Parts: sequence; C-alpha cells; structure tokens
Amino acid sequence: MRAAFSQQTERPPVWMMRQAGRFMKEYWDIKNRYSFLEMCKTPEIAADVTMLPVDLLGVDAAILFSDILVTAEAMGGDLSFTQGVGPRFANPIRTEADIDALRTDVVDQLRYVADAIQVIQQRLNGSIPLIGFAGAPFTVLSYLVEGGSSKDFKRTKLFLNNQPELAHRLLAKIAEVTGAYLNMQIAAGVNAVQLFDSWALALSWDDYRTFSHQYNMQIIGQLDRKDIPVISFCKGSSVFAPLMAEAKPDVISVDWNADLKQVKERLPEGMAVQGNLDPFVLYAEKPVIKKKILHLFERMRNEEGFIFNLGHGIMPDIPFDHVKYAIEVVKEFRY
Ligand code: CP3
Repeated sequence: MRAAFSQQTERPPVWMMRQAGRFMKEYWDIKNRYSFLEMCKTPEIAADVTMLPVDLLGVDAAILFSDILVTAEAMGGDLSFTQGVGPRFANPIRTEADIDALRTDVVDQLRYVADAIQVIQQRLNGSIPLIGFAGAPFTVLSYLVEGGSSKDFKRTKLFLNNQPELAHRLLAKIAEVTGAYLNMQIAAGVNAVQLFDSWALALSWDDYRTFSHQYNMQIIGQLDRKDIPVISFCKGSSVFAPLMAEAKPDVISVDWNADLKQVKERLPEGMAVQGNLDPFVLYAEKPVIKKKILHLFERMRNEEGFIFNLGHGIMPDIPFDHVKYAIEVVKEFRY
C-alpha cells in the first residue's frame, strides 16, 4: 500500500498477475472438481483459490480469484471456459440489436464477488491487502465481438473502424457496469483495484485514446477511491503510459518492453509503477532469474513507488518452484 502511494519501503513489494492458477498443483486439485465459473461464483471456493499463493508463495498482496469477463456475462453474454480453448461467448455481438439487448443494471448479479471478498478478508485478517479488479471496456469488448480470444483482433478492429458509433454505445454500456462493479468491490472491502486492459496493445495511439483511454478515465474518475489505490494495466503501457497517466491512477502496471525507470521518469511526480519482469524469465535457470530481478532492482534503486510484478501473467507451465524462488529473491532484498 505504501509503494502504491509512492511512500518509502524497505524493499519492493511483490505480487504476480495470474498468481492463482494452473502452474500450481493445488489449483488443479480444486479445478478438477468444478468448472471455472463455478469456482468464481462460489465464495468459499473463490476464497480458497485466492489464498493459495498467499499461503504457498508468501506474496505481499492477494488478488481476488475471478475473471475480467464476469461483467460481460452478467450483461447477457453466454460465457463458457473450455480447457485448451479459453473463454467463449456463444452469442457474440454482431448487430445493433445485440448491443441494445445487453443489460447494465447487473451489479446485483455480481453479488457473489462481494460475498467472496468478505470471506477472503476474514481469512486474510488484515495480514496483506486484497486487490480487486475488472476488465477495461475495450478488452471486454474484444471478447464480446470476437466471441473469444483472438490473435489479431480483426473483427474488433473492423467493428471500431466501420461502426464507431455502435462501438461507443457498447463501450459506454460496459464502462457503466465496470464503474459500478468496482465500487461494489470497494464497498465489499477490497484494499486496491486494478483495471486490466490486456489487449490495448492492438490499438494505434489515436484509437487507444478514442476507444479505450477515455472510458478507463471515466471509470477511474467515478471510483469511491478514499484510501484505495487504483492500478491501471495494459499490454502496451510502455507506449501508452503518458496517456494512461491522464486518467490519474495511483499506479501504472508496465509490460516488459520498456525500461521501467524511463517509464517512471515520464510520469507525473508521485505516480507509482508496477512491473515489469518478462514472465518468460521464470522458465530460466534460477541464477538467471535472480540476476534479472536484481538488475531491475538496481535500475529502480531510490525510486519511491515501485511494486515488483511481471509484465503480464504467469504462464501455466512455468515451474512452481521457479515462481517461489523469484518471490524469495524479492523478499530477501533490501534497498
Ligand atoms: O491473477 C489472478 O491470479 C487472479 C485471477 C484472474 C484470472 N483471470 C483467473 C483465470 C485474473 C486477474 C484474470 C484476468 C483476466 N482474464 C485477463 C486479464 C489479465 C491478463 O492475463 O491479461 C484476461 C485477458 C482474462 C480472460 C481469460 N480468462 C482468458 C484469455 C482465459 C483463458 C486463457 C488461459 O489462461 O487459460 C481465462 C481463464 C482464466 N482466468 C483462468 C484463470 C485461472 C484459467 C481457467 C482454467 O483453469 O482453465
């Protein structure tokens, strides 16, 4: 929390995107018994999974176990997760009528998330902060329009280019739900929130500003922030960081393409950064992992406002033991 508000810490704090997932045997023990959405929608199970990296890795923050697509599901998306395929919407957005059919008064349907937050906070008992999150409108739109994951976002870009008014109508609906949903998480007791705009890197600078940034800014602007730091993440942040800063998050989470110190230098005074180890480093031998982490820390020495994380999520086949080792390296470090 101190690092997020750019106050001094004795070492960089650490958590990792996708820290609760398939690289853990203990995750599979649960996953083999339930579907992914059942896990998300059952507060006790969501809490069990959230706690796995807390108990087994000793991270400095927990992140709510859920998915960025639960908002789109509540709005009317027919969502399923299939092993090896990933998320799929059986009713992708194709027409104006599809957009009009999406509901926005859906926060009540997402109460299971608030319930999970309360169970998790009882278990954490004040030990470390809990990060809530939501998907940013552009990234969520991409799944709704493509009907699932995409390599090139061809349909999404065709939609933005040919039907920008419709795209804005859809983005505005998602943004309305996302703002209310994050405020529900804050009211339920999360200590920080992260907005995931994972696929913003598909966009040009102008399109990022038009179709992504302005909605993220609107969401961040309507949060009941009090003492809740807001973290803004996208792949592409190494390019878009100066624009992202206009939305006034407390922290910008940076992909691995840029030098983190240089990114921070271009941000307003007092805006923290999170990142930005290439997750592929965690496949390497332990001395390499250690060297790359310490190199990053050397670059960031004397920088207040630095949270260590990966530039994107942990891949499912990264050895657990390597992830645990990386966290030990961070926790042993002193400025
Ligand atoms: O970080 C955490 O550990 C918290 C939980 C979390 C999940 N998804 C669990 C999950 C978070 C924060 C997310 C966010 C998410 N979901 C993002 C943004 C982060 C990022 O990686 O860019 C995105 C783009 C999604 C959409 C999504 N969900 C995809 C593309 C997939 C399938 C790909 C894959 O990794 O399998 C999911 C499924 C998903 N979300 C899983 C988990 C643990 C795997 C489900 C399974 O066990 O099969």
